[in-house]
Parts: sequence; C-alpha cells; structure tokens
Amino acid sequence: MKILAYCVRPDELSSFEKYSKQIGHEVTVLKESFGPQNAHLAEGYDAVSILGNCNANKEAIEKISKLGVKYLATRSAGINNIDIEAAKKFDVRACNVPAYSPNAVAEFAVASTLCVARNLQQAIRRVDVQNFGLAGLIGFELRNKTIGFIGTGRIGLTTIKAFSGFGAKMIGYDLYQNEEAKKYIEYRTLDELFKEADIISLHCPLTDDNYHIINRENIAKMRDGVVIVNTARGALMDAEAVIEGLKSGKIAGLATDVYENEVGIFHNDHTNSLIKDDNLARLMQFPNVLVTPHFGFYTDEAVANMVEYSLQNLKDFEISGQCKNEIK
Ligand code: NAI
Repeated sequence: MKILAYCVRPDELSSFEKYSKQIGHEVTVLKESFGPQNAHLAEGYDAVSILGNCNANKEAIEKISKLGVKYLATRSAGINNIDIEAAKKFDVRACNVPAYSPNAVAEFAVASTLCVARNLQQAIRRVDVQNFGLAGLIGFELRNKTIGFIGTGRIGLTTIKAFSGFGAKMIGYDLYQNEEAKKYIEYRTLDELFKEADIISLHCPLTDDNYHIINRENIAKMRDGVVIVNTARGALMDAEAVIEGLKSGKIAGLATDVYENEVGIFHNDHTNSLIKDDNLARLMQFPNVLVTPHFGFYTDEAVANMVEYSLQNLKDFEISGQCKNEIK
C-alpha cells in the first residue's frame, strides 16, 4: 500500500524503515503535522498515517477522500483528534493503535506521582541555583494514602499493578469493571472516589461524557490537599477550576502530561517565544505543579510498537478488508 506518513519524528524513522520493508508497504515520510492545510499532499496515496496531535477534522478528511485516500491510520491510541463521523461520511476507514506498550504511560504515571509527592521538581530547580536547603521540600509517603484510578483499562490496570508495591489503599472507577483490577483495587462510584482519594490518577479516554470531569463541582467533592495526576487527556480537566483549586490549597499538587490546548505548543520548542495560553503559563508557575510535554508514551518500546502496529493495521485492511483496530 502507498502510505503518506505525516508528523514523523526522527526517532520513528528507523521503525518506519524496518517495518515498511517487513510488512510490505511503500511509505513516504513527512515532518509536518497533518491538517486541512496540507491534506492535498496525499494525492496518489492509499493511506495517510498521522499522530495524536494532527488535526484530522472534517475538512481534512473530506480533502483526502476526494483525492482517493481510503484509510486514515493514527499511530496513537487517542482518537479524539479524528472526526469519526466525517470519516464515515466520506468513506475513509480509520484505525488506531490501542494496544502499544501500556507500561510506558503506567510507569510515567508512577514517576509523575512520586515527583509531586516528594517535590522533586522544586528540589531540582533549587539545586540548579545552588540552593541545597530543605525548607518547603517535605513530602509524603504513599503507604498512608488512598489512590483513586479513573479508568481501569489497559493503562489504568498496568498503573494499578505498578503502584501495588507501595502499600497504598487503591480504589477505582470505570464504566465497566475489570476483573483483574479487582485483585488490587475496590471499585467505587465516581463520587465516592472523589471523596476518598488522596491521589487521583486519570486513565480514561476523553469522551463527550467526561469532558472537564475535573471541574469546580467535582473538585469541591475531593479531599482537601488532593493530588491530581493526569496522563490521559488535557480536556478531562477544566484548567481554570484546577488553578483555583491550587491557589486555595484544595489541590496540593498536580502532575499533568497533557493540556487541553496543547496542540501547537507541546512537542515544539518555544524557547524564544511567548506562551500565549494564560492558563498553561499559570500552571507552569506553581511550585507544586509538574507540567510535562505529553510524553508518557515516549519509550523506545512504545514508539516502535506504534509504527509497527499502525502499518500492520493497514496491511490487514489491504489483505482482508478488515482490521481489528478499525475505529467504529
Ligand atoms: P483502554 O480503552 O484500555 O481503557 C480506558 C478505560 O477507560 C476503559 O476501561 C473504559 O471503560 C474507561 N472509561 C471510558 N470512559 C470512562 C469514563 N467516563 N469514566 C471512567 N472510565 C471510563 O485505554 P488505555 O490504553 O488504557 O488508554 C487510556 C487513555 O490514556 C487513552 O484514551 C489516552 O487518553 C491516554 N493515553 C495517554 C498517553 C500519554 O502519552 N500521556 C499515551 C496513550 C494513552
């Protein structure tokens, strides 16, 4: 199959070279992110490969459809950047990679939690300017805490297992309970989880139903001094409500690998430009907030998986007309 791969990072190149040969595709790689502005480049290709920060909106999908592109394969798990209705309407079959190494994000969620619990970011900033003092760096241990997991699917479950050695009490909420997770956690309603958890770790996809699930109303239900860890999607949090919570002390710490308006900011170097998003700039100023550039997934293992499995998805379409990871 002839594939145009957008948004290809240097670290993906060797996997594209290896797996396009192994699986049997002809792939052209581009650095630019996909969107309506450059969808026309896909003329003559059967498929377009994208990443989670590309803009596969209705306009872009309509354009590639008119060019005869039949498949849209994202190398990410997240699909909230793809207008699925438009894909159906314009007969472009879309697929994702839901099952790449869940350990990448799970281990990252543990690292982010510990970073906030022990004020590591502050300590590193201080040592950088030769301040070796301890004032304000006192942390807390997990064994006395309750960790609440929202979303207990692949990444949620792997995170729960990774946390299981710390001795914390673990509870969870999901639309569907996971039998394996029950070995480690007790399920709660969402409101019960908000009330009981000292640390809340988000592992659910972004949907219409949970947009801004971390909002003023729900923050008010949480324990004073709650720590929120978001390695899932930025729009699960209302940034203004979170900032209010941080200012009042209701939220004692936040680690977020994602941000609602991250597209165009994360994964780019802004050293010489202003961050125009006031909420992001404010979040970055809090000493008890860790902002990372959506790189929970970013391990050698996961990146290779993402390229390989997305190319395999397209091979499955080519051979059988079906793909188990088709987004329906
Ligand atoms: P999954 O599909 O295996 O699990 C998601 C779980 O969330 C499912 O059990 C589902 O029932 C549950 N869920 C759906 N809506 C919910 C709601 N409103 N409330 C509570 N639970 C709900 O997906 P997986 O692989 O575990 O990924 C989870 C999310 O992690 C992805 O959707 C993505 O947003 C995020 N992610 C972040 C990455 C990063 O680099 N930071 C990388 C990969 C994924």
